Amino acid sequence: MCGIVGYVGKRNSADVLVDALSKLEYRGYDSAGIAVMEQGDIVVEKCQGKLDNLRERLAVHKPQGMVGIGHTRWATHGEPSDINSHPHGNKRVTIVHNGIIENYLEIKEFLLGQGYHFVSETDTETVAKLLDYYYDGNPIKTIHKVVNEIRGSYALGIMFREFPDRIFAIRKDSPLIVASGEGENLLASDVPAILKYTKNYYLMEENELAEITADQINFYDPHMNPIEKEVQVANFDMEAAEKGGFAHFMLKEIYEQSKAVSTTILPRIKDGMPDLSECGLTAELLKGFRKIFIVACGTAMHAGMVGKYLIERLARIDVTVDIASEFRYRDPILSEDDLVILISQSGETADTKAALHLAKDHGAKTLAFVNVKGSSIARDADMVIYTHAGPEISVASTKAYAVQLAAMYLLTFELAYANGKISKEECRSYMEQLTAIPDLITKTLEVKEECQFVASKLLNAESLLYIGRGLDYALSMEGSLKLKEISYIHSESYAAGELKHGTISLVTDQMPVIAVATQTDLFEKTVSNIKEVKSRGAKVIVVLKDGMKIEEGVADHVIKIPQVENIFTPILTVVPLQLIAYYTSVLKGCDVDKPRNLAKSVTVE
Ligand code: G6P
Repeated sequence: MCGIVGYVGKRNSADVLVDALSKLEYRGYDSAGIAVMEQGDIVVEKCQGKLDNLRERLAVHKPQGMVGIGHTRWATHGEPSDINSHPHGNKRVTIVHNGIIENYLEIKEFLLGQGYHFVSETDTETVAKLLDYYYDGNPIKTIHKVVNEIRGSYALGIMFREFPDRIFAIRKDSPLIVASGEGENLLASDVPAILKYTKNYYLMEENELAEITADQINFYDPHMNPIEKEVQVANFDMEAAEKGGFAHFMLKEIYEQSKAVSTTILPRIKDGMPDLSECGLTAELLKGFRKIFIVACGTAMHAGMVGKYLIERLARIDVTVDIASEFRYRDPILSEDDLVILISQSGETADTKAALHLAKDHGAKTLAFVNVKGSSIARDADMVIYTHAGPEISVASTKAYAVQLAAMYLLTFELAYANGKISKEECRSYMEQLTAIPDLITKTLEVKEECQFVASKLLNAESLLYIGRGLDYALSMEGSLKLKEISYIHSESYAAGELKHGTISLVTDQMPVIAVATQTDLFEKTVSNIKEVKSRGAKVIVVLKDGMKIEEGVADHVIKIPQVENIFTPILTVVPLQLIAYYTSVLKGCDVDKPRNLAKSVTVE
């Protein structure tokens, strides 16, 4: 959600800024812009729409200079328009901003009283004008004054005309890194933007300020004292953030799931047992929890739903799954004996972050499942299990979900064993089966063509139902979300046994149903529900495990995943559901990797 970049160096900054912004497109945006220091003047080019619109503009007039800042905007205050696009400011100070300034109206009123005029509807413009108001020739002091007055979240890239060889950056509650190259330095919202230029970067802490020139980066703490920071080295290269021959990032990331799951589980196995001690999880700690809350948004919340079924079944601990935006305002009953698990690919989701802080305030222990190293949620939680998906670029999450499930299996087995609910032998046997999962994911990909065929049958549907029971139900929530996110076909996931209490009235020959029936103990019951929709005219696609059979005439199409024990089917079943969503989106001609209105990292409430 919004991407920020900045460049100071030896190249034409407009080119670098647009290139770096293109690596942040996955975050979701509706307009883009840059500001470049051209012969001592700040020159801005910005417009609504995709980066190509900005490129067209730059083809007509490209500001020349080696210092600049850039932005992709996801509208919050004011519609997507040329005027509301960033950068904002005036000839003296210009900024790009990610986040929300909560007291912007107050500041605006004050500045109007001081004779300032506003051209946009954004909260950002108030920060730009406040910087101008306080500017006294000392950028660092000015920025400090301003951040002491604004409330909310911000990652800011700032240029002052009187300091033409440098840019400034500061953040609070929004991600920002500063990268150091050879004779050139950058700032960005995320690592993929800098990889073409360098792998070395610094993580900015809350209200630390960076002053960036071509050959130097100075950092200051929130009291304006100079500080040294530890350099981080990106552990993936450009290739990991490129499509590598696949038509879309989403397809590439679906294919990367097997490797990502291996990387997440293999280093956490010791003597055939799960070992999460590097994450701070000891057997002693895992014994005592009264209750577990799993809190997350979107796909991560769906991984939590699978987690509930797994933990309750094997470790016999009560688990509640919450949508983070609800959890934070529902006054949950939390105690020091509870464990709150926050799941987040980005580690920056505003609601999940707020839920984490709420849990901490109540004294609960907090454990984060996070993919992005050094992100806010990873830093603020008591313990963190890093999932190792590598960079996920497609907005629709795939491999990040698979690794969240993989981490959930590890935690479940460790919890179940620590609480005496499974024996060492049982735990070892589960771990052995988990170790086989990456190969089985690869095998599951063989259903690709069948999924393509199914997608061709779904194209004209206006609405779809996904049904299942138990783990199949939890999993089908993710299948349904994938389809609606990227193909814009409405779909709902429903507990198969609940259909007859209302939703079955919607079923006609115009509503295809995808039924997931991989749980052997619930199979007959799910088949009865499948027959109920079939007899009302629905076209039915059924997902089964190898070796399972369904009577002739009940399913229009059957897709099979490899044979595994019931608890492991979600991590395989998700593959055909992802592929069905992917091919439906491709066949409908949608923008697969950048679906409309969606952002990869949702840093606002
Ligand atoms: C957005 C993304 C989803 C993601 C959700 C939670 O809505 O589009 O793909 O599941 O945020 O993101 P997180 O980074 O916290 O996992």
